Formats: sequence, structure tokens, C-alpha cells
Amino acid sequence: MPPIEQKTIAITGSASGIGASLRRSIELNGDKVIGIDLKNADVIADLSTAYGRESALSETLDRTNGILDGLVTCAGVGPPFDPKEMLCINWLGTAQLINGLHEALASSKFTSKVVAVSSNSTTITPNVPEDLVTACLEFDEEKSHRILENYSGMASMAIAYAASKTAVAHFVRRAAPSDKWAGSGIRLNAIAPGAVLTPLLQGGLDDEEFGDAIRTLPVPVGEFGSPEVVAMWIEMMLSDAADFLCGSVIVVDGGSDALIRPDDWPKSFTV
Ligand code: NAI
Repeated sequence: MPPIEQKTIAITGSASGIGASLRRSIELNGDKVIGIDLKNADVIADLSTAYGRESALSETLDRTNGILDGLVTCAGVGPPFDPKEMLCINWLGTAQLINGLHEALASSKFTSKVVAVSSNSTTITPNVPEDLVTACLEFDEEKSHRILENYSGMASMAIAYAASKTAVAHFVRRAAPSDKWAGSGIRLNAIAPGAVLTPLLQGGLDDEEFGDAIRTLPVPVGEFGSPEVVAMWIEMMLSDAADFLCGSVIVVDGGSDALIRPDDWPKSFTV
């Protein structure tokens, strides 16, 4: 058997939770990881700022000699957190990293893979303002912040989280089938986890206001997910099994989404 060639995968948010589980598992398989995070990573960068995102890109490109076989955007924050900063990290820290690494991904000799981490909050959060998602997708930071100012407290955080993750899902669905992505041999997909027991979820559970809301979210399988299980799905989405996966948003949430909107799946569409 010919030796299996080592791949290089960049992971944002590699220091904790889902990203850290994924890093461990990929390295055990013999592939190389370039971790990007605020600390305990190969590339130290704050993705909430334009400067941090630029430096994350240039350092990652330096470390890969401009060739990358995979990218997973795990870095993210959830409520309670400043809603404007949350948009910057979850949306810009995802979309700008994916766009900025396009050329390196297109230079891979393999069919390269991108897995953007979205969330099931995209389909189970009510009343997420469409104009906020649109402003994100237009990279209009000022407008998105202005829209957020119409909300306060818990609502503004829940809305910012769901809008940032909805923009990620739309970005993936729009870009994936295009010549720029599918046509360059890059498979772009998203995963939408539900409640997964990580420091991010624990932060919500420990919060006076958000704790009860999270605890009352129905999870039909009976327990929160583990970061290891979500990492297994992401590994599948990085593997050859995903050569035929393009623009998919894979919901891995213990059944919450199916329970909350069982029939919300189009039978047909009108042209
Ligand atoms: P986590 O808190 O364990 O890990 C998130 C990582 O992102 C941390 O290492 C953190 O340092 C990094 N990060 C945060 N802000 C950053 C910044 N400004 N610059 C660079 N890195 C930054 O959380 P978890 O749960 O592993 O989250 C991973 C992804 O999964 C996030 O995008 C989250 O929104 C998403 N997700 C998590 C769910 C959950 O219930 N845990 C549910 C649905 C989606």
C-alpha cells in the first residue's frame, strides 16, 4: 500500500471544546493541524478585530506555504457576550477566514474541504431579523451594529448569535456550488450543532438569565451532545466521504430541530 500523504488542516478555535477535540483526533490520525485561537494555539489572533483576522490569515498562509487541505472555523462565542463583538467573531471571523484562505485551499492537490461551524439556533430561534442577516452577508458592519441597537439584553444576544450563524449557513449555501469553490475543487459545507457540553455552553448554563432557557430546550435523545461526537462528524466532512458533499448544512443536535419544526421541510418550490 502506498503511504498515506499527510494533510494540513487549519482550525480556528482549536484551544477549547469542539475545536480542541477535533485537533486531537486529526493529529492522532497523523495529519497536521494549524490551530488559530486567542491562546494555546499555533497562530495567536483575536478574530474579533480586523487586525486579528488579517494577522491570522497571513500567519496561517506563512505556515502552510500557501497550500491548505482543509479549514474548520470553530472559533465562536455565545450568550452571554457583547452582541456586536459576537457578530464580529462568529460571522466575520468565519467568512473572512474562509474567503482569505480560498487560494491556499484551491492549491491543494486533494479535493480540499471547508467546514464552517453554524448552529441549530439558525432554525429554532424565533424572530431573527432578516435585515441583520442581510447586513452581515453584505459585510456591512456599521449597518449590522445599528440594527442590533434596536434590541437589548438577552434578546440582543440571542439575536446576534442566531443571525451570525444564519449568515454563515447562507454564505456556505450560496458560495459552495459556484465555480469559485466547487469549480476549484473545494468542498464547502457547514455543520449546525445543537447543545454541546463545552465551556461555551457551560457559560450559558451558568448565567442567571440564559441558564433556564438552555435547560428548557428539548433534546429528544435525552442529553447534551459531546464535543468528541461533533468532532467525529466534522472529520467525516473533511474526509473523502465529503467529495460529493457541497453546500450542505448538517444538523447534529440530538433531535431538537426535528422536534420543534417537524414539517418545516419544503415539499416543492414555486418558480
Ligand atoms: P468553546 O468556548 O469551547 O470554544 C470556542 C473557541 O473559540 C475557544 O477556544 C475560544 O478561545 C475561541 N475564540 C473565542 N473568541 C475568539 C476570538 N475573538 N478570536 C479567536 N478565537 C476565539 O466553544 P465550542 O462549544 O467548542 O464552540 C465551537 C463552535 O461551535 C462555536 O462557533 C460555537 O458557536 C459553535 N456551536 C457550539 C454549540 C454548543 O452548544 N457548544 C452549539 C452550536 C454551535
